[in-house]
Amino acid sequence: MKSSVSDCVVLPLNKIHNRAGNITIVEGNKNVPFAVRRIYYLYDIPGGEARGGHAHKELQQLIVAASGSFTVLLDDGQNKKAVNLNRPDYGLMIIPGIWRELMEFSSGAICLVLASHNYEAGDYIRDYQEYKRFKNEH
Ligand code: TYD
Repeated sequence: MKSSVSDCVVLPLNKIHNRAGNITIVEGNKNVPFAVRRIYYLYDIPGGEARGGHAHKELQQLIVAASGSFTVLLDDGQNKKAVNLNRPDYGLMIIPGIWRELMEFSSGAICLVLASHNYEAGDYIRDYQEYKRFKNEH
C-alpha cells in the first residue's frame, strides 16, 4: 500500500469567535474529505500512557485535540512523522494504511476522533510485523 505519512496533513478547521467563546464545525465531505460515520473520544488518560499502536486497512480519521495536547507518531513503514496537536481548530488527517501511536498526553487532554466507518475489529492491524507485510503485499 502506497499511503505515506506525507499525505497525513494537518487541516485548519474553521473557527467562529465571539465574546462568548469559539465554535468549530466539522462537516463530512465538506471540510473533511470523508463522510463521518463514527465519533469517539479519548479522555482521562493517565500521564505517561500511550495509545494506538495499530493501523487501519480502510478507515480514514480526523484527530483533533479538543482540549489539551498530545503527540501523534505516524509511520508508513518507511518514514515517520511526529505531529503535536494542541489546538481545537486544527485536525490531523490519517489516511488508511498508516501505523500510529498517540502519546505525551497533557493533563486533561481530550482526543476527538472522527471516523469514516463504524467500528470493525477486522479493519485493524495490531501487529507491526503484520503491518509491514500488509504494506509490502498491497
Ligand atoms: P483501541 O482501538 O484499542 O484503543 P486505542 O487505539 O485508542 O488504544 O480500543 C480500545 C477498546 O475499545 C477495544 O476493546 C475496542 C473498543 N472500541 C470499540 O468497541 N469501538 C470503537 O469504536 C473503538 C474506537 C474502540
